[in-house]
This record gives sequence, C-alpha cells and structure tokens, in this order.
Amino acid sequence: MKSISGDAMRRTFRPLVAALGLVALSGCAAATSDDGAMESMDPAANASVERGRLSVLHHGCGDCHGGLDNPDSEMWMAGVVIPFQEFAIPLDPTAPTFSYPLNEADPSYFLTRPRNITPDNETGIGRFTERQVFNALRYGLRPEETPDVEITSTVPGSGNFPAVPRYLAPPMPWQSFRHMPDQDLWDIAAYLKRGVRPVRNQVAESEGPPDFWAGFYADPMVGLGTYPARPFPARGERAAP
Ligand code: HEC
Repeated sequence: MKSISGDAMRRTFRPLVAALGLVALSGCAAATSDDGAMESMDPAANASVERGRLSVLHHGCGDCHGGLDNPDSEMWMAGVVIPFQEFAIPLDPTAPTFSYPLNEADPSYFLTRPRNITPDNETGIGRFTERQVFNALRYGLRPEETPDVEITSTVPGSGNFPAVPRYLAPPMPWQSFRHMPDQDLWDIAAYLKRGVRPVRNQVAESEGPPDFWAGFYADPMVGLGTYPARPFPARGERAAP
C-alpha cells in the first residue's frame, strides 16, 4: 500500500461515516481541480467532464473510492488507502455486512475493496477505454474483462454480453448507476479519464466467490431489479392519485 501523509489520512474516511450523514467531517469546501489540462480541451469535451464531475459528487463515488465529496483531497478517487474503506460482504444475504471492524478470520465473508478509479495507467483506470468504464457502470462488469465494444444485451451469453460475466463486487452500486441515461454515464467516464488527477495507489484485488457474484446477484433475497426497470407502477409503487 502506498504510504500517505497524515493529512491525506485525515481526509479519507470510512464510507459508513458518509452513510451516517457525517460528511461535514471531510473538511474544507470543494475547490476547483488543478487544471491547466481542462482549459486546453474543446468546449464540448470540457462540458462533458464538468457534468461528469457533478454526477460523481452527487452519486457519492467518493464515499467509497476516496475523498468523500472533496475533489481537493489528495486521494480523490484513489481507492482504498486505509482498512476503514474495505467491506466484508457475506454470501448469505441474511448475514450482516460490515464496513469495520472486520472479522477477517470468518471465511464466509469476502473483503471487497473500492478500487483506484483515477486515470493512473498501472494502478487505476488509465488502461481502460471510456467505453469499458461505461460498460462497468451500465452492466456491472469488471472493466478489464469487459469487451471494448457496445454491449447489446443484459442476458449472459445473449448478444455480446459475456457468457460467464464477471461482475463487480458489492457494494459497488452499479445496479443503481445503470439506470442513468447514456450521456450521464459517458460524462462520468470522461471525467474519470480526463478530469481526475492520476494517483498511483495499488489497491489489492477484492475477494469473492468463484462465480464473480453471479449467484449472489441472482439470489431472490438480494432482490436485484431489471434493466430497464419494470414499467411504472411496479409492485412497490402506485399511480399518482
Ligand atoms: C458503496 C461503495 C461504492 C460506491 C458509492 C461507488 N463504488 Fe465503485 N466500486 C466499489 C467497490 C467495492 C469496487 C470494487 C469491485 C470489485 O473489486 O469487483 C468498485 C469498483 C468500481 C469500478 C471498477 C474499477 C476497476 O478497475 O475494476 C469503477 C469504474 C467504479 N467502481 C466506479 C464508480 C463510480 C463512477 C461511482 C459513483 C458514480 C462509484 N464507483 C461508487 C464501491 C463503490
């Protein structure tokens, strides 16, 4: 693990802190990113990066991937730097999920780790295309194992959806993010690849079951929905009076 300054440590908090609404702990107000590079981009690309930045801020990517809501953080999007950011996910959906402290001795739990999603080539998403990042967010597939093509189905083996999909580990909320319009997902991919400063931080692979969570997501107890969502009103909804 990369060694980090105490200052960076203080600005990197466990995701649950954010979930509990204690985000005020993240300190100073968001500052604009560095960014000479942005000025040289054409206006359309620049607008896409700016929209992507807003989506990343209000979808809480920083709660898990680092920096909470603070793009001024040295570890913005850099993934796990302290154990607080790891999750212990049980295969049994009736068991509790832990963020910290972990019971690492318990073999029924897998440690999953928010990854480095800065554009660093070796330790981040620098080596993936924007389409691979898009595919990760729309289909929940690990970008390095996702073909760099438009995916035409959500059913394993149908169209060019991988026959044996390797899904992103929980709690990466791809099942929510996949409902964002195409343009929003492209904007996020543009921001991560072009608007975020690369940080070298090697995050260890997440642990997981051999089927890369396919059985977990298919478990009715987990209750994954469909993409696109069922037409309104679905069973948990009602037509507006
Ligand atoms: C609740 C925690 C959480 C949140 C919030 C979250 N992620 Fe993740 N993300 C994860 C975890 C955990 C992984 C690692 C999954 C794995 O190892 O299979 C991950 C993996 C990823 C990956 C795959 C990276 C790679 O190299 O394999 C991308 C891309 C990604 N997240 C983007 C995002 C974006 C963009 C957002 C916000 C829109 C976001 N994540 C929000 C937890 C989270």
